[in-house]
Amino acid sequence: MPLPDSAVIAAAVSAWRAGELVAFPTETVYGLGADAANPAAVGKIFAAKGRPTSHPLIVHLPAVDHLEQWAVDIPAAAWKLASAFWPGPLTLILRRAPWVPAVVSGGQESIGLRVPAHPLALALLQSYAAAGGGENGLSGIAAPSANRFGRLSPTDAAHVREELGDVVHVIVDGGRCSIGIESTIVDLTVPAGRPPRLLRPGQLSPEMIARVLDVAPCAPTANDATTPRVSGALAAHYAPQTPLQIIDGEQLSCTLNELLDQGKSCAVLCRQPQFVAPVGVAQRVLPDEPAAYAFGLYAALRELDGYGVDRILIEAIPASADWHAIADRLRRAEYGSAALIVSRANE
Ligand code: TXA
Ligand code: MG
Repeated sequence: MPLPDSAVIAAAVSAWRAGELVAFPTETVYGLGADAANPAAVGKIFAAKGRPTSHPLIVHLPAVDHLEQWAVDIPAAAWKLASAFWPGPLTLILRRAPWVPAVVSGGQESIGLRVPAHPLALALLQSYAAAGGGENGLSGIAAPSANRFGRLSPTDAAHVREELGDVVHVIVDGGRCSIGIESTIVDLTVPAGRPPRLLRPGQLSPEMIARVLDVAPCAPTANDATTPRVSGALAAHYAPQTPLQIIDGEQLSCTLNELLDQGKSCAVLCRQPQFVAPVGVAQRVLPDEPAAYAFGLYAALRELDGYGVDRILIEAIPASADWHAIADRLRRAEYGSAALIVSRANE
């Protein structure tokens, strides 16, 4: 991993203090950051991504002891999770402090907070705080994933350049993100005595959370009126532009051959190194282990998407709990593909 470069850090800090956007690496995916206490700067994030302003952003903090700058009524569970997993790939949803501008959380009463584990992200956040931070002495950086709304999250600085190179002032290059999928989101704004809600699965599993809290987070129900808006919870999130189909391993050859016989161009993402696609079919093999698979997933999808084929076939992953966060991303990527396949057939 490249070492933090002091000139790069200084440029990023002064851009943030001037209300500009800086993309930076975290251990999960790259973020598109701005001063979370400056409504105009936060507005630039929504504009750059093309993201609806009602979708809340995560505020990145340099250390656990900044929590009370941003949240109030912090439950004991939050302190337990923060001390167990921060810095790390966990976002906590808490009650937003009244002095924090509502725009950062899309007008909601809550706020998403996390201390990222990437050394360069921490160096940036700590330098920003040491330089006086942003508006009102608050030092947090609001940062969604650094992609255009609804697109795949970037796990490499080159992806950020592709997505947002024309609108971002500074892109801090920290190499590839070590985790590769977004943070686990746990909502702690639930009534006392209720288990926390798992709003987005991630590498940090419900079992790991349950070990700290003695209670497992539960999934929000579809008709849960108090469920906060989570853009990562939109069914069609993380979509590549190529229609994508998840296919059981043993059906892969057969489905691929059928499509090729129909004159369709295809690309394949599989876990079986022994699977050999016919000549002319782009193929990527990801490791048969969840962490290594997550590390390579978005880069592989982005690459296969770039070939502009008619269909990407993805070999189905195991149904076990350790693949749950990846299954969630694949399902969302596939969602909407059926409609896309029909509309392309009619073109
Ligand atoms: O790993 C990550 O979390 C990355 C890195 C950059 O930190 N960030 C990220 O941000 O994935 P974004 O904006 O792409 O996804 C954040 C998710 C969204 O689904 C958003 O709706 C949800 O967090 N979120 C943020 N604040 C929230 C809140 N107050 N209540 C409920 N959901 C919230
Ligand atoms: Mg995102």
